[in-house]
Amino acid sequence: MFSQRITRRNFLRASGIGAAALFGSSFDAFGGFRVKAQSQPFAPDAEVSITAVEKTVQIYAGAPTRVWSYEGRLLSGSGVTVQAVPGSYLGPVLRVKSGTKLRIQFNNELAEKTVLHPHGLRVPEDCDGQPMQSIDPGQTKVYEFQVIDRAGPYWFHPHPMMRTAEQVVMGLAGLFYVWDPEEEIAVPGASTGANDIPLILQDRLFDANNQFLYQPNMMWGYLGDRVLVNGQAGPSLAPEPRAYRLRILNGSNARTYKLAWSNGMPLTVIGSDGGLLPAPLTRDYVMLMPGERVDVWADFSKLAGKRVILRSLAFDPGGMGMGMMGGMGGGGMMGGMGMMGGSSLANGAAIDILKVNVGRKATAKPELGPFPAFPVRYDAGNVPNYAAPRPFTLSMGHMMSWTINGRIYNMNDMTEVAADEIFTRDEVLALEWINASPIPHPMHIHNVQFQVLERAAEWTPPGYASVNQGFVDTGWKDTVLVWPGERVKIALSFGPHTGMYMYHCHILEHEDMTMMRNLMVMEPGM
Ligand code: C2O
Ligand code: CU
Ligand code: CU
Repeated sequence: MFSQRITRRNFLRASGIGAAALFGSSFDAFGGFRVKAQSQPFAPDAEVSITAVEKTVQIYAGAPTRVWSYEGRLLSGSGVTVQAVPGSYLGPVLRVKSGTKLRIQFNNELAEKTVLHPHGLRVPEDCDGQPMQSIDPGQTKVYEFQVIDRAGPYWFHPHPMMRTAEQVVMGLAGLFYVWDPEEEIAVPGASTGANDIPLILQDRLFDANNQFLYQPNMMWGYLGDRVLVNGQAGPSLAPEPRAYRLRILNGSNARTYKLAWSNGMPLTVIGSDGGLLPAPLTRDYVMLMPGERVDVWADFSKLAGKRVILRSLAFDPGGMGMGMMGGMGGGGMMGGMGMMGGSSLANGAAIDILKVNVGRKATAKPELGPFPAFPVRYDAGNVPNYAAPRPFTLSMGHMMSWTINGRIYNMNDMTEVAADEIFTRDEVLALEWINASPIPHPMHIHNVQFQVLERAAEWTPPGYASVNQGFVDTGWKDTVLVWPGERVKIALSFGPHTGMYMYHCHILEHEDMTMMRNLMVMEPGM
């Protein structure tokens, strides 16, 4: 498959025929549609409006909470379903069939600049929703792109300069599920959501008047002392005794979860950021950092009439002993209460996330079907620089300036790209994240899905053994956890879209504090 791709492309180039004319609609190496950017006017299959608004909702008894919310509406056409998550002030679920040509009218009805970023999707540069594309209050930004990615649990969130973190805390986040017929065979209900339970995990701090309190911690970012699920406090679920698909997004700014069932049953993981894994796998627990997703097939059929709890187990998050300092709650000077941090629930503390009260009668019995063939498996045989990956070192400077290869985002030149941040479209390349800092970072790249080739620990941070059985590295990823001391080698190939994109840590305070950089994808031969 891999070599066929190269051959066909070389042929196209050698023949001197514009690739745009020939590509047409075909499945690409990622298993999604590939259609070259059209020069004709865009003819959408479907049109959606998403409006960022302020409103109030009842999260706790007493005073309602002021939130910001994405309100979605299907304006016309097919290929997209817009579903509200019941009881949630968060954005809608956009359920989009792969191949759909989509127009999104994004309206900003907030009192400040914002922009919508489709996280994990490969879209043209002008649809990427980067900080520079932010729009003013009252303005509308129109996105027009074809959904070319394979089925997967993508999402969308704001991305304005230095304001991403707080806007997400206020409630701006939504799910963007792409489905295709192959996924429907593997996981029944993929096209409708019939067996889906979306779970967006977000920790929050509240003041005495039930309002969100935004008090980030200098080192860890924003940590709340309560974990909301789909924007709801004290969440619970009452499923039938049968299987469901739990589609979990860590939509928190900074908190890492170590997900496990309270009764000790393993988690059956069927997918990650970029869709279905090659095959289901089981884990006693799954580590999930901000921005990451995991699809879990949860079979409650043996639990009729019983309760099970989805938990985050205690773990040591690193931080030079500043993370979880048992009993102190806050994790010492920098972990929680000190240095402006408002949370008494340290990163790595044990939390009950979701109570699941299983009913007694099942009305359906969904079962997993055969999984689609995995499009490409990157390894030493097809990644030319496998042995010499391009290094990206994550460090902590003084005053907690987080850097990537010693650099921060250049506010004075928002188009700055360094030589090692330039990529060639269609080139298969290995990169390596090297975490030389004391805390974990979830590293995210726009405009691509990548694969994890290898993890190695240079040095072993305390508590590494309490997390390292919970990584899910076999599928497509757009955000990857890099533990202190680890070198995480990944492989990727950008395309079809070229231009300026970004990569950054998905701890949103780190991103806003400039642990973010541009990257450039060039046409081959430039
Ligand atoms: Cu989800 Cu640039 O981010
Ligand atoms: Cu993104
Ligand atoms: Cu970070």
